Amino acid sequence: MNNSERISSGIEGLDVLLQGGMIKNSINSIVGSSGTGKTTFALAYVYQGLLEGDHILYLSFEEPPSKLMLEAESLGIKIKEIAKNHDDLIHLVESEKIVEFMTNILPALAQKLKHKNLKHTRIILDPLTPILWEFPSEKDQRKVLTKIYHHLSSLGTVLQTVEEPNAFGQTDIGSIETRVPIYLSDSVVHIQNLGLGGKYNRTCKIVKSRRTAHHEGIYPLSFSYGPGIVIDTSTIKDNIKNLPSQDFRYIELMQKVKAMSKDKDPKKRIIAQIANNLLGDRQKNETKDNLELVNALTDPQILQEVRK
Ligand SMILES: Nc1ncnc2c1ncn2[C@@H]1O[C@H](COP(=O)(O)OP(=O)(O)O)[C@@H](O)[C@H]1O
Ligand SMILES: [Mg+2]
Repeated sequence: MNNSERISSGIEGLDVLLQGGMIKNSINSIVGSSGTGKTTFALAYVYQGLLEGDHILYLSFEEPPSKLMLEAESLGIKIKEIAKNHDDLIHLVESEKIVEFMTNILPALAQKLKHKNLKHTRIILDPLTPILWEFPSEKDQRKVLTKIYHHLSSLGTVLQTVEEPNAFGQTDIGSIETRVPIYLSDSVVHIQNLGLGGKYNRTCKIVKSRRTAHHEGIYPLSFSYGPGIVIDTSTIKDNIKNLPSQDFRYIELMQKVKAMSKDKDPKKRIIAQIANNLLGDRQKNETKDNLELVNALTDPQILQEVRK
């Protein structure tokens, strides 16, 4: 097999960002705080797999299959319509069985299936977080996950979701709850609900993707009936020549953000932190995507929010 063969993620915009999709037999993480859309990503990934005739092994560590099917339906992801037997798609692993499941059952199952020479399988671990809680030390997490990934990636392409334990609008992707899975993943997509309102209320960014010259920007994300999630990559096609460091609005905005980060009002400091997360080192890393972000952050609606 060509070791850079890609599969579609099921989200058009994400495929654009990832140069066509995920690399076959790789480990991919969707990281975000609660309600950002991780499970919706996973459901779109399943739907795409069904369209392509892949096997699906969806391991849910939280929600029962019936609930996940209802969520898919509410967003127009038609898994039920095309799956021959949708009862077999999603398996709930209860918390008291997680350790036994991860350390023994799953590697044995993967080993067995591997020799059956099945077609490509899409494996979903949603969310990985309860497994991490069972192995509090990073050393143990690394040991267990490395073993699991070794077996699962020989079967197919893994998509795992990871809870980012932060308050609304804040972010710390390097937290203890996310560090090991991010470190071991081939690709990491960070989704956020920034609470800024407008186009950049929810965003998506590729943190890493091995063997991929991926796009570096922060892109608007929204929920939509049909695909489930839409990532707006329209700025990529634009040929904007102005670079942010030459753009007076960018310079002005960053001065404002800097002043605000020292404000007595904690609310202003939080907004400054969000703005800085979005734009902070963009100046060094000049891309055409930045101008779109500057436009978004100088949007009157957002500025009004900042002034509050
Ligand atoms: N039918 C819908 N229309 C619009 N937004 C929806 C719909 N269903 C879910 N959402 C949004 O998706 C969020 C939950 O997405 P989910 O994928 O379960 O997040 P996560 O797995 O990250 O916790 C909800 O909080 C809501 O904002
Ligand atoms: Mg979820």
